[in-house]
Amino acid sequence: MYVITGITGKVGGAVARALLSNNLPVRGVMRDVSKAAQWQDLGCEVAFAEMKDASALADAFNGATGVFILPPSDFDPAPGFPAARLIIDAVVQAIRCASPEKVVCLSTIGAQAEKTNLLTQRTLLEQALNALDLPVTFLRPGWFMENCALDVVSARDNGVIHSYLHPLDKAVPMIATADVGTLAAMLLQQEWQGKRIVELEGPQRVTPNDIANTFASILGRPVVAEAVERDAWEAIFRSQGHKHPLPRMQMIDGFNEEWICFEKPQAERVMGETELEVVLRALLKTAG
Ligand SMILES: NC(=O)c1ccc[n+]([C@@H]2O[C@H](COP(=O)([O-])OP(=O)(O)OC[C@H]3O[C@@H](n4cnc5c(N)ncnc54)[C@H](OP(=O)(O)O)[C@@H]3O)[C@@H](O)[C@H]2O)c1
Repeated sequence: MYVITGITGKVGGAVARALLSNNLPVRGVMRDVSKAAQWQDLGCEVAFAEMKDASALADAFNGATGVFILPPSDFDPAPGFPAARLIIDAVVQAIRCASPEKVVCLSTIGAQAEKTNLLTQRTLLEQALNALDLPVTFLRPGWFMENCALDVVSARDNGVIHSYLHPLDKAVPMIATADVGTLAAMLLQQEWQGKRIVELEGPQRVTPNDIANTFASILGRPVVAEAVERDAWEAIFRSQGHKHPLPRMQMIDGFNEEWICFEKPQAERVMGETELEVVLRALLKTAG
C-alpha cells in the first residue's frame, strides 16, 4: 500500500495518479471529507488526517510499503517556524509508530542553505527525518512552473507579469508539478538504503522574460516582464495579509543571489519533460 499525503493537491494528486495507472494500491490522506469521493471513485482507500495530528497520521500510515510526505506550504511563518515544527513532530511520531518500509519526502531546491529563509521549514524537516532509522528519499525540485498561476490574469488582461525574480534575464531551475509527481511515484517503487537526495528540474531553465514571452506566444499579443523592486516587497506582502513577510523575502533573495541552488552537480540531477508552454496553456485554460 502506498500512502500519499497532500493527495488533493497538485503534486500529491500527480503521485497518486501515476501509481494508480500502474495498478498499485493507494491510500490518500486528506483533511476534507468532501474531497474523498473523487479519489475513492479512482480506486483509492482514503484516510483523514491533519498534518499536525500524529495519531491520525500513524493510523493513515499503518501497513504502508511507502509513504509520500508532502509538507504543507506556509508562506507567512512566525519566527522560529513553530507551525512547521508541529507538523514535523507529528510526521516523525507517526512514522516511528507506523514503521512504513520507506518514505519519499517532498523537500525543495536549497534545503541545504545555511541562511534562514522560507525554505528553512524544509531544512528542519530533512534534519528530523534524517534522524530516523528507515530509508528516506528527499525529493528536491526547483521552482514550480505552476507558481505562474499568480501571473495569468495580469498577463492575459494587462500584458504584463510582475516578477520578484531578478534580473529578468536570469534563468532559474523550474519544474512542472506533474513531473515532480511522476518522479515521486517512481522513487516510491524503488528500493534503497539509508538517506538519499534526488534533485529535479525541467527540460530547460526559465527566465522571467521567458515566462512573459511564452504567455505572449500563447495569447498572440505582447506580454512583458517587469521587476518588482526589492524595496516594495514588504509592503506588497503585508497588503496581501502577510504578518511575517521576511522569510518569503529572504527566499526570493536566495534565488536572486543564487545561494538557493541545487546541492549536487548537474550530471546527477533528474530532468523533467514538461515544457513551460504546456503548463502556461493549462493555467490559462483554468483561469477565471
Ligand atoms: N511552489 C514551489 O515553487 C515549490 C518548489 C519546491 C517545493 N515545493 C513544495 O511543494 C509543496 C506544495 O505542493 P503542491 O503545489 O502540490 O501544493 P498544493 O497543490 O497547494 O496542495 C497542498 C496539499 O496539502 C494539503 N494540506 C495543506 N495543509 C494541510 C494540513 N494542515 N493538513 C493536511 N493536509 C494539508 C492540501 O489539502 P486541501 O486540499 O485540504 O487544501 C493539499 O492536498 C510544499 O511542500 C512546497 O514546499 C514548492
